[in-house]
Amino acid sequence: MIDLTTNYLGLKLKNPVVVSAGPMSEKLENFPRMEEAGASAIVMYSLFEEQIEAESENIDSALEYGTNSYAEATSYLPDMPKYHVGPDRYLELLRQGKAAVSIPVIGSLNGSSPGGWVRYSEYMEQAGADALELNIFDVPTDPNITAEQIENRYCDLVRTIRKSVRIPIAVKLGPYFTSCANFARKLSEAGADGIVIFNRFYQPDFDLDELEVVPNLVLSSPHELRLRLHWAAILYHQVETYIAITGGVHDASDVLKSMMAGAHVAMMTSALLKYGMEHIGVVLAGMEAWMVEHEYVSVKQMRGSMSLVNVEDPRAFLRGNYLKMLGSYTWRDSGTALTTF
Ligand SMILES: Cc1cc2nc3c(=O)[nH]c(=O)nc-3n(C[C@H](O)[C@H](O)[C@H](O)COP(=O)(O)O)c2cc1C
Repeated sequence: MIDLTTNYLGLKLKNPVVVSAGPMSEKLENFPRMEEAGASAIVMYSLFEEQIEAESENIDSALEYGTNSYAEATSYLPDMPKYHVGPDRYLELLRQGKAAVSIPVIGSLNGSSPGGWVRYSEYMEQAGADALELNIFDVPTDPNITAEQIENRYCDLVRTIRKSVRIPIAVKLGPYFTSCANFARKLSEAGADGIVIFNRFYQPDFDLDELEVVPNLVLSSPHELRLRLHWAAILYHQVETYIAITGGVHDASDVLKSMMAGAHVAMMTSALLKYGMEHIGVVLAGMEAWMVEHEYVSVKQMRGSMSLVNVEDPRAFLRGNYLKMLGSYTWRDSGTALTTF
């Protein structure tokens, strides 16, 4: 009997496959479907700082002018009404979604500045969220702002939210921190129970005909997992925190690798959008088959086995790997010129 159970943020989960924040949790009917497919927890799509601010501006201006004149404030949120629903509806969906399943449901808040929206962490707790995922998505473009100031701002935000809720908090962050391990520790000291590595940055593209900067969401590919494996392996045992991997988890081998790197859970969105929710069952069956074949009895047994502190040659994660990697490439000069443009 294979034991797939794991612990994430203090929540006992039946297996390490968690549905990450995304469109699947937009509809109530999908909650039981995710559970039936085998998901051990669901992270809801995010409630955005801008949505909450826009809604409160709407109320303010309605009170002040008797009109809904907040179009300017929301003009930079083009698809919000289409993809996301307002704060009240979000909380209602969280409440109903939670009641519809027996697995944990994690609420997601997405923002970067301290402000009124932060109180929504309390509302999520009251609505029944088992934990909170705080997605601090920021693009620091001001050359006057230092890395330390940015990190401090993130930690302040975590501290503020920590004070207002009792449920566990995970912070979803991007990979672009100079000292990722140090920052992960600072987040933990500020009150975060876990980190979700890593946010994918949806860099916009340029439309050459219209000369416009255009959004271009591309689903992840499995090779994106490597960056996450690398950092989970480095953080494991060095920073006291729960680790969730998000980005590039597509099949059973990706979940197994995530566990071996030291993650507590592996989250999926792109693969589920591509293959359907039932893909979770395929992933779990694949994990079990691999574990039987390789004589593993539990996920706990493999956790961190390939981490920096446990691998035979830690240079695999350091500069040595870089040199080895470059040296391993063999170039055969048989290419043909690219003629498409
Ligand atoms: C269509 C779509 C919507 C998403 N919405 C959210 C969101 O609301 N909040 C969030 O934190 N992440 C969101 N994500 C990011 C996913 O949760 C996940 O971190 C990312 O897609 C990487 O994982 P994957 O490789 O399994 O797709 C979204 C991703 C996609 C593709």
